[in-house]
Order: sequence, then structure tokens, then C-alpha cells
Amino acid sequence: MKDITRIKAQFNIPTIFTIFGSSGDLAKKKLFISLFDLYSNEMLPDRFAIVGFAHSDYDDHSFRDYVQEILVGHTEDYDHDDIEKFISSISYVQGSFTDSEAFSALSEKLIALDDAIGQCTNKLFHLAVPPRFYDDLLRNLAHSGMTIPCSDDSGWTRVLIEKPFGKDAVTAQELDALLGKLFKEEQIFRIDHYLAKETIQNILMFRFSNRIFDPVWNHEHVEKVEIKLWEDIDVADRGAFYDGIGALRDVGQNHLLQMLSLIAMEHPGEFTSKEIHKSRARVLGDLCMSDTEHLMRGQYEGYCDIQDVADDSETETYFHITAQINNDRWKDVPFILESGKALHKKLTQIVVTFREPEPCFCVGPEHTQNNKVIFDIQPEEKITVRFFAKEHGLLTNIAQKDLAFSYHADREVREVDAYEKVIYDAIIGDQVLFTNTDEVKYAWAFISSVMEKMQDVPLTTYKRGTLPQIDTK
Ligand code: BG6
Repeated sequence: MKDITRIKAQFNIPTIFTIFGSSGDLAKKKLFISLFDLYSNEMLPDRFAIVGFAHSDYDDHSFRDYVQEILVGHTEDYDHDDIEKFISSISYVQGSFTDSEAFSALSEKLIALDDAIGQCTNKLFHLAVPPRFYDDLLRNLAHSGMTIPCSDDSGWTRVLIEKPFGKDAVTAQELDALLGKLFKEEQIFRIDHYLAKETIQNILMFRFSNRIFDPVWNHEHVEKVEIKLWEDIDVADRGAFYDGIGALRDVGQNHLLQMLSLIAMEHPGEFTSKEIHKSRARVLGDLCMSDTEHLMRGQYEGYCDIQDVADDSETETYFHITAQINNDRWKDVPFILESGKALHKKLTQIVVTFREPEPCFCVGPEHTQNNKVIFDIQPEEKITVRFFAKEHGLLTNIAQKDLAFSYHADREVREVDAYEKVIYDAIIGDQVLFTNTDEVKYAWAFISSVMEKMQDVPLTTYKRGTLPQIDTK
């Protein structure tokens, strides 16, 4: 598969991680912890430095204290000597993302680090900032010269960009055009952290490493596919970001559609990012709304009381839609996508339901005999194959049985956060788990058509901690 020598070579080259928005939410909840987990599992380059860049008032010393607090607060299991060594690699530049002078200061810091290390380093720039800063930040970054590699084959520079990738098809295209103007495609890593979740990565392996599933993975045998991302948490303090965006754009345009593309894509032929991107993009390009199926959007009670949310907000915190894929494999198979906040439980799951056998024995208490393949993404990480078998005894009853595989069953397995995978793959230059221009374009085209239809759908209110009921009349 991957060239292990080439991968190992990346780890001999010193690397500088610059985190824009280093005092923000994402850096606090995910990035420093993931970098530390990589470090303590010897999955970072042998020599590295981390530079935080943000508006907040820190210097190197106080910023190290800030990161130390995050790590100590995360788990008691971390080794304190490891934490000390890790934070000694951190420095800080205070500045605004819109101020080109601040980027000169950052550039000087990186040059000084290169000098201290004694060679031109690889450089990763992670944009963990609100999207309204992307334009200025990207221009300042490119104009500062920091993203110019030392040469064709040394000192690569890469830019990691978070979702949401635009607010709609037009803004996404503008952002993509800007990225394309400032950087080469191999420098751009568009993050959808769902692609890096363990069980989501496993969809490709499961589908294409097992001969038994491929012949039945099509409309002749599959009755429907359900993809759900239920969250029990509410919008909390993210009102300013969420209001006017809503569930469809927040997780539908990206996480749900990426899960769909992996379930439905054609075999890529080769395990390369180019071919996998092509295959994922193609299936997203074939997506359309089903006219016959029920559409629903909801908002949980109390959403409008959240800070920074309009009193009369019509933003959906829940949606239920049915998509179809216009190709030979998936003709007329409903792909049901559902997500919401403040629901009855946290569950991310994909269920592929097969048609009943024909003719069907269909005896015993189970009158429906649909095989299922269930991908549990979270909180469990599990794959289940549901089948039917005769019950033991004199009667000819057929009962439902499960064959299941769970990562959690093996206590030795270290849980790897999606952000560790994101950072690791960016270091080794593997773009498989990142999205490309076409995927973003087609995902937005589909979501725009859904948003248009949603305008005619009344907003249902649901109680916190419940799942809105779909009216299938
Ligand atoms: C983010 C959304 O992309 O994904 C959040 O902005 C959502 O609203 C989150 O809560 C869900 O991710 P995870 O990894 O917690 O399932």
C-alpha cells in the first residue's frame, strides 16, 4: 500500500506546526491533545516545534503554561516528564489574522527556529480559526513567503483548513479559487475529521477487502441505507456560529455526505488519494433529492434562548432527508440522512438494510428477514452483520443473530482520535482522508438543492432529549 520508507523519511525531517487560533476552542479541545498523544506514542517527527499564533495575550512562557494545563486537565494518565519535554517545544506569536505585520513577526520566528535547528524544516500551518478570517489569513500567509518550500524536494509546506468550507456553493467556490491561486493542490489539506474516524476509515477496507459483500452492494439487493448522526449535546455556547448555519450545513454538507460517499462509491481501482477522491466525488455528483420521501426539519425547544441566536430564528437543529443516487448501482435505493442536536442519545451509525430473500421461508416470530450491515461509528466502534438462523430445538423457528466485531472488545487497542490521524496524514502527505475540490463542489450542489426544498417545509419544534417523530403519511 503505502511506501513505508518514504513515510519514515518524513519523520527524520524536523517539522514546525503553526497553529492559527491556538488559544481557541478547537486547539484546546483537540489539537494540543492530539499532538501530545502523537508525541508520546512516537508518531511525530524526531525533531519538531509548535508555534501558537492568536490574538490572546500570551508570551512563550505563559502559553506553555496554558498548554500544560490543557494536558494535565485532560487525563491523569499522561507522564509529567513527557509533558515537560513536549511543552518545551512550544512558542507563541501574538497577532491578528488580518494584520500583515504580525505575519512578518511569525515569519521571523520560523526563520529563527530553522536557524536554531540548523536546517530548512517542513512546515504545517493549521487554520483553527473562524471561517470569516480565512480570506485575510490565507492571503497574509501566502504573501509572507512562509509557504514557499525551500526547494522542490526539501522543506515542504502544507496548509490544513477546517470546515465549514464556505457557507454555500458560491462562497465555497470562492474559497476554493483563493486556495488554488495561493497554493498548489498538494499543499492543501481540507479537513473533514469524520473521514479520519477509525470506523469510517474502515468502511473502505470492509467493502473492498471482503469479496462476500461486493456482489450484493447494489439496488438489486439493498432496500435502503440509513445514515444518522444523532447528538445529545445542544448548541451550547456556539450560537454565534450555528445560527443561520443550521444542522444541514454544519454536519450534512460534510460529515453525512462523506459517510454516504464511502458507502456508495465505486471501487477506486487503486488505493491512492487521486483515485479515491475521484470515486467519492463521482458518487456525490450523482446525488439528488428523492421527490417521494418525507422531508423534515426541526428545532429543539429553547434553542432561541441561547446567546447570539435570534429570538425568531428559523435555523434547523434537526433534519431528516432522503437522497437518491442516479447511477446503475443505486437506482431507486433511498439513502436516508438524519442528524440533530439535543436528541435522546449520541449515536453515529450507518445501517445498510438488504431486501428479504425471495422466496422467503419467513417462519417463526421474526416476520421480517432483512439482513443488515451496521457500521457503528460512535460511541461504539463496531461492525455488525445481522443474519437469520434456525433456533435450536424441535420447532422450526428462525431467529435473528448478529456477527459483530468491536474495537472496544480489545482493551489493548489505543483509541486514536480523528485529529491525530488528520495531523499524522498531513505530515506524511497522504490526502486520502481529506476532501478535494470536486467533492466540496458536488456536496454543496446537493445541499443547495435540499435547502431550496426545505424552504417550503414548516419547522417542527421538538423537546430536548427526544427524537422528532417522522410523519410518514
Ligand atoms: C462538527 C460540528 O463538525 O462536528 C459540530 O461543527 C458537531 O456541531 C461535531 O457537534 C460532531 O463531531 P463529533 O466528532 O463530536 O461527532
